[in-house]
Amino acid sequence: MELTGAHGGCCVIAHKKERWMKDPSQPGERIRVSELSQPKPTILKIGGSVITDKNNELAARTQVINRLAEEILKANVKDLVIVHGGGSFGHPTAQKYGIKDGLKDDKQVLGFAETHHVMTVLNGLFMDALVWHNIPAVSITPSSCIITEMGRIKFFDDAILKTLLKMEFLPVLYGDAIIDQKLGFTILSGDQIVSYVAGKFNAERIIMGVDVDGLYNADPKIAENTKMYSHLTLEELKKLKEKLGKPTACDVTGGMFAKMAELVPAIEHGIPVTIVNGTKPDYIYKALVGEKVEGTTIKKE
Ligand code: IPE
Repeated sequence: MELTGAHGGCCVIAHKKERWMKDPSQPGERIRVSELSQPKPTILKIGGSVITDKNNELAARTQVINRLAEEILKANVKDLVIVHGGGSFGHPTAQKYGIKDGLKDDKQVLGFAETHHVMTVLNGLFMDALVWHNIPAVSITPSSCIITEMGRIKFFDDAILKTLLKMEFLPVLYGDAIIDQKLGFTILSGDQIVSYVAGKFNAERIIMGVDVDGLYNADPKIAENTKMYSHLTLEELKKLKEKLGKPTACDVTGGMFAKMAELVPAIEHGIPVTIVNGTKPDYIYKALVGEKVEGTTIKKE
């Protein structure tokens, strides 16, 4: 093994024919340079508030899910990864049993199973719509391939994800109840999965489908006279972060504030983020095909 020196800010090491560099998504880890030459995927997050009715427990918006499947089919984006949230399936169950804070009481064990199970039910409804629209979508269960440490992704067996992308399937992941090395278990948000996968797979872009028109200077669902930003730099986002909507009672993963905090490493990595209203017809479609659409774009500079 021979150290060949700094290269674009990263230390590149020649190891026979393999070239390695620091993994942008995993401090202390290395990644094969050849892996970076894979096609750059688009990562689409569909917020739980888009596909479920957050005011009613276990209420899926099946018409919205079907419309989104039509938009995804019509957009026909190559190298797409979808991650969806929990909405009124994952959040209320996780909250009822205090799953995010870890295993403290035996009664939570069944709660962990129930939280994971309701997420598989929501995922099933989402997959139903995609597959019956003739989209070759394949679900990846996060709790079967990810382990966290204090709520942060520590281990992610992405071999299946990588292979599915290579074989031109559409992989679909979701926020899930997850085993945690220190806490016993916790809740992993879809947003953390988005940021991790984007960094690891050197994504082209991230599209966040939410239930508001973009990013505002205050929570538009509570405050009056709010202002929406159409473009933000990373610096501007960092300044704004503190002001963004704090979590609502039924969002165990932290609402828009946490969403943006999760995306910072991906934006720092140079991956642009577009936030659009997924509840409005054709917004996700337009974002996917790169047409002009109302929303907020966040770029490194
Ligand atoms: C939450 O995932 C998953 C569970 C509560 C099990 P997200 O945090 O990504 O969900 P949304 O998009 O906010 O609903």
